[in-house]
Amino acid sequence: MRLSPSDAWAFFRILLIFNAMGCIHSIRCKPRSFRESIIVLEVNSSIDSNPTSIDESSNVVLRYRTPHFRASARVLVPPVAAKEVWTVGWIQACNHMEFYNKYGDNGMSSWELPDLRDCKTQAISDSDGVNYPWYGNTTETCTVAGPTKRDTRFTVSMNDNFYPSVTWGVPVCNSNEPQLSSIRRDQSFTTWLVAINRATAETLVLQTVRWRMRLHIQIDPDKPLGQRARLLEPVTQEQPQILGRNETIPPNAMVKPNANDAQVLMWRPKSGDPVVVIPPKY
Ligand SMILES: *[C@@H]1O[C@H](CO)[C@@H](O)[C@H](O)[C@H]1NC(C)=O
Ligand SMILES: *[C@@H]1O[C@H](CO)[C@@H](O)[C@H](O)[C@H]1NC(C)=O
Ligand SMILES: *[C@@H]1O[C@H](CO)[C@@H](O)[C@H](O)[C@H]1NC(C)=O
Repeated sequence: MRLSPSDAWAFFRILLIFNAMGCIHSIRCKPRSFRESIIVLEVNSSIDSNPTSIDESSNVVLRYRTPHFRASARVLVPPVAAKEVWTVGWIQACNHMEFYNKYGDNGMSSWELPDLRDCKTQAISDSDGVNYPWYGNTTETCTVAGPTKRDTRFTVSMNDNFYPSVTWGVPVCNSNEPQLSSIRRDQSFTTWLVAINRATAETLVLQTVRWRMRLHIQIDPDKPLGQRARLLEPVTQEQPQILGRNETIPPNAMVKPNANDAQVLMWRPKSGDPVVVIPPKY
């Protein structure tokens, strides 16, 4: 068959259109790799609007519960040609931690991440401590094992909040005498949506979310139990930010120890040397 110049041009344009659509499988293209084909259809992230709740029912500790941070993503993986196994899910790390419990003029106790405090690392893993580097292994991750013939669609989600207990009495004293006078907390996290190849450990960062939780509770320890604590600003938290560009994951965000195992409780008296009350777990 001979093509006239205009037919040839039309054929060429069709080729261009096919090329723009991705590839012409039968002519020259390899199937798209996982890296090129995975699509994040939707990402949501927010902090619930309820304020922190405070529980004074125990005469040993004050408990509080902050609103939840939540993140979820809808993901589409087109057919995977290769015999590859990928896990897609959420990884979280703590970037900043101030967690101070003041006891009037005696001093304060403080939960600290020593390597973060001393600027030895940028981030500490917030994995559940079992499924490193993942934040969890229930709703938080999904695994796709190739080859697959059809699209795989799934949602991966995670949530986080703080629910600590703070002693009414000075932690280094045996007395339960209430002295706790204020609690301040300011913590920042980075949360990544990531795909990791099980065999090669190739890591794709798909989305990056930053969030922060701030808290200030004022306490009058002389008042009766149940009437001591008052929640101050910020009552409404800043909403998380889904970043416009991906951030690389610092190595310490992927490995042991996690924040729970690395944290220490310090007693920092008004005068004198600080004391380690609870050492790190690892
Ligand atoms: C995101 O939020 C919208 C509105 O609340 C909801 O309809 C949608 O299902 C959410 N998507 C994901 C992936 O959670
Ligand atoms: C999640 O991790 C736990 C602890 O390692 C394990 O026992 C469980 O089988 C895992 N669940 C899934 C769905 O992988
Ligand atoms: C993050 O990286 C993924 C994979 O390379 C890409 O698809 C996505 O558009 C990037 N996101 C942003 C916000 O740059």
